[in-house]
Amino acid sequence: MPPLNLCGSKWRLVLGSLLVSALIFELDAQGQKTTLRTKPKLGRSTNKEAKPARTKPKLKPSPSPQAQTSITQVLKRGKFQKVGETLSVQTGETLELRCRGKPVQWSVPPYLEEDDDGRLRIVQQERYNVLTLVNTTGADTGEYICYPMFCEDQDCRKEYNKAAKVFIFFPDPQELFVPSSNYYEMIQLRSNWPTVLPCQVTSPEAQVTLYREFPPAQVAVDGTEISFDVKKGFTIHRPRPFHAGVLYCVAGLGSLRQSSIKYILIYVNYPMAPPAPVIQASLSTVAVGENLHVTCTVVGEQDVNVEFTWEYPGQQIGRPLYTQESISRVSGGGPRQQSQSVLLVDEVRDVDKGTYTCTAENLQGAKSVSTTVKVLPKAKTKRPRI
Ligand SMILES: *[C@@H]1O[C@H](CO)[C@@H](O)[C@H](O)[C@H]1NC(C)=O
Repeated sequence: MPPLNLCGSKWRLVLGSLLVSALIFELDAQGQKTTLRTKPKLGRSTNKEAKPARTKPKLKPSPSPQAQTSITQVLKRGKFQKVGETLSVQTGETLELRCRGKPVQWSVPPYLEEDDDGRLRIVQQERYNVLTLVNTTGADTGEYICYPMFCEDQDCRKEYNKAAKVFIFFPDPQELFVPSSNYYEMIQLRSNWPTVLPCQVTSPEAQVTLYREFPPAQVAVDGTEISFDVKKGFTIHRPRPFHAGVLYCVAGLGSLRQSSIKYILIYVNYPMAPPAPVIQASLSTVAVGENLHVTCTVVGEQDVNVEFTWEYPGQQIGRPLYTQESISRVSGGGPRQQSQSVLLVDEVRDVDKGTYTCTAENLQGAKSVSTTVKVLPKAKTKRPRI
């Protein structure tokens, strides 16, 4: 007899769904990194007076696709320097980057894109685009990407494969971590998905370690299971249940030592695929007054929660039916479990004839299966029973 597990599985699934929403929200926030809206300033020329002859509309499609672009840093006294993978700029200084191509679009750290406080200026010149960021702070640390645009008529699209990028640190003597508006961040640990703790330092020289809040201990960073990237934070490559808990990063530089915000890691057994339910009615033809039950079964990965929902003919008239849910181990062939929902129809009436649909859902998706039940009028003479 499989153990009844009504509340437990529901609760865990609800919690799981909440986390998924949180995760999707996070992804949206992350996604903004790569979607740069066209800044209204783009294309505003600063040397209009210098070239009064150039008034021809430049609406012709740019016919030749641009080559791989590159970013150059404009230094003081008219010096230029081609940027490498990373760059450090002293806070308070002005950052000036040139990107070859016309037109191009920049992608800047999300925080800069959201709060347009007038420090960022983007100007398209004849052969290159200039990004200027004044009064810089540690919070400006992040990736700066320049995308050449391929245009046909008025339609432009980013040429992702020709983008040039540079990660820029703004070492802030007061803030070793890029400031965050939150005190903590919820992070879902999925069984088959690398997880990043995005504690971003403002200086590439900072020594960063990882800690667990309870029991208080430093977390070993071996470079394989957990690794650190100065441009990203810590990555847990193959999350396991024991990684869950509250973690935080500590950065040290000179005599300064600071903690990051807290990361609340919650482990979720993330399924490999949506469930594959199987539905079966105890009888395909049932007489009025008899009992019927319809069983929906999913055999899948262990500790992956499946939620069942039912649609049945008596639903519209509010016929109250009952379900019994259960989870049991499946022996053999690796750790698998059988989740089952049984819809109980006591004393069948005529309204119970029709299609019964069971939808099984896990964090990867949902699948529905149906079966049809015929109801015979109450037999005047009792049906023979075997
Ligand atoms: C940059 O900082 C200076 C000095 O604090 C200030 O006067 C100026 O308005 C700031 N510029 C911008 C664009 O915020």
